[in-house]
Amino acid sequence: MLLNLTILPGDGIGPEVTGQAVLVLRAIAEEFGHQLQLQHKNIGGAALAAVSDPLPPDTLQACLSSSAVLLGAVGSPAYDHYPGHLRPEAGLLRLRRELGAYANLRPAICFPALEDCSPLRADLVRGTDIMIVRELLGGLYFGEPRSIEGIPGSRVATNTMTYGESAIERIARIAFDLAMKRRQKVLSVDKANVLECSRLWREVVTRCAKDYPGVQLSHMYVDSAAMSLVQRPKDFDVLLTENMFGDILSDQAGGVVGSLGLLASASIGGPVGVYEPVHGSAPDIAGKGIANPLGAILSTAMLLRHSFQLEREAACIENAVSAVLNRGSRPADLTRDNQKATTTSEMGRRVIEAVKELASDAKRKSA
Ligand code: IPM
Ligand code: MG
Repeated sequence: MLLNLTILPGDGIGPEVTGQAVLVLRAIAEEFGHQLQLQHKNIGGAALAAVSDPLPPDTLQACLSSSAVLLGAVGSPAYDHYPGHLRPEAGLLRLRRELGAYANLRPAICFPALEDCSPLRADLVRGTDIMIVRELLGGLYFGEPRSIEGIPGSRVATNTMTYGESAIERIARIAFDLAMKRRQKVLSVDKANVLECSRLWREVVTRCAKDYPGVQLSHMYVDSAAMSLVQRPKDFDVLLTENMFGDILSDQAGGVVGSLGLLASASIGGPVGVYEPVHGSAPDIAGKGIANPLGAILSTAMLLRHSFQLEREAACIENAVSAVLNRGSRPADLTRDNQKATTTSEMGRRVIEAVKELASDAKRKSA
């Protein structure tokens, strides 16, 4: 198969982690007989520095003409004082919108080897396997009007949360479809005791659930969901929620399973999917070779699964990551006490080694 991808390394640790993810993709292409065609483009702060636009036209064009996009991270303190549309984040938000990527899937899985990395007791976190389904093109992120108005000292800032029935329904269906292939549970998270958006959300999600009689739907307010996520994470299966709540709860889920550095994501629903680690640009550790590449590497597994239906290849990457963790390798964000941290590139190398072993095992079995 031709894997025609645009790579957007972006800012901070983005280039380091996507570098390793691309090497893993190369190994997969070689082992499973696919052809990899890559173009690298700028986004975020890197694009602002180059052409003063966080999503330059040629970047968008490249993304639209490829089959999937692998992104590192955007965000840089250098642009903290810039107006909203000239911040690195604006590039990512526009990319999501231009690509119609309304469904953001963020799995949070406790790897057996990492039970002791969670700040929670191992018996609480063991077996955690959550799929966060975050609506990605609505709510406060995109609502109009938005502004800061008035004279300094008495300015007023406005953001708007809006959700239409169709936007709620399409993301709800993604969550229910995923739940059918998992443990048949959807928890919809909202703030229906306070927000109109949430009341409509709850009504529409409940209506959709009628088409999925095998799936058990429950609802929870976001404050209570935040508490339950640390009290009993393994009870969660699919967690469906709106844009801002999903942003917050997915970072929290990363903390629960040991480190945000492990979390991968898929932003899908439109013609081209975007795959990126959840962790962000982490400018404080950029360039030191200590970033955890596993979020980016696991994002390539999601890319192969969701954009190319290459389930075997996706599972090979996921199993390779598990194997590397089982053998005791730990990037810096997952080390404890006096454990030795494995560098970004060495983690990548070990995953590739495991990919090759697993792929040749599979070939031997099918021969
Ligand atoms: C994420 C990030 C982004 C978001 C930022 C970088 C705009 O935090 O993907 O979770 O808020 O969606
Ligand atoms: Mg976030």
